[in-house]
Amino acid sequence: MAFSFLDMDRVLSETFVARAEYHPTLGSTNDRARQWAEQGAGALPLLVVADVQAAGRGRGGHRWWTGQGSLAFSVLLDPGQAAVGPGGQSPLVALAAAVAVVEAVAPLVGSHAVGIHWPNDVMAAGRKLAGVLVEVLPDGRHVVGIGVNVNNRLAEAPPEVRRVATTLRELTGVAHDRTAILVAVLQHLEAGLGQLASEPGRIGTSADALCRQRGRLLTLDRGGESVTGRCAGIAPDGALLLVTRDGRQAFYWGMLK
Ligand code: BTN
Repeated sequence: MAFSFLDMDRVLSETFVARAEYHPTLGSTNDRARQWAEQGAGALPLLVVADVQAAGRGRGGHRWWTGQGSLAFSVLLDPGQAAVGPGGQSPLVALAAAVAVVEAVAPLVGSHAVGIHWPNDVMAAGRKLAGVLVEVLPDGRHVVGIGVNVNNRLAEAPPEVRRVATTLRELTGVAHDRTAILVAVLQHLEAGLGQLASEPGRIGTSADALCRQRGRLLTLDRGGESVTGRCAGIAPDGALLLVTRDGRQAFYWGMLK
């Protein structure tokens, strides 16, 4: 089962998505979801899935490699479905997505430790298993893009990806059902977004429990200015907590070096 087809009927019937679109190849599912948003989009959440992305995007202008056998998808949500306050800088939606991925894959990987690197990486056995790219549109709609390395082959990946990434197949030695994983991620995402609306602190707390950076010295690039500190976890409001020479500080955005 190196490459299994996605059962979109199952995805539609078992998850909260109202509409779904599948592409064998696409530039970027986030770009496609944004296109839909510009055209009005219709019923939400809208799911866009691609087997292969020619121009998958990561945070900070990085590329996201999407080899055959991986999962790449984006969910377009209206502001009520991504219940965060105005401003769009909250890391909580990205953390809710990362927590959802951890919850979906943890039962599959046996004793391998799965966790989060703030604000958007899912790590397994110390390597990157999945990434999340949340983009907030001017009207408050959110595009939540998620890439999971499932059955794709790292031997086909660019060297910079091979150095840091892992896949579910590499971790377990067997191929996995991508539909089941997509359904599980979407179900956990729905639950997480529900928590954001009812008890926002819970997502931050769940992310904190999964944080694999605690105790590490981290440097955060904040648009030209760098801040270095020892990671003290993730706050209930989603901020990265660093103990710097000025004391304990909370950061809501920035790129970790
Ligand atoms: C990161 O690690 O920096 C985030 C990676 C996000 C990749 C996903 S794959 C589906 C969606 N479409 C994109 O172009 N990017 C996201």
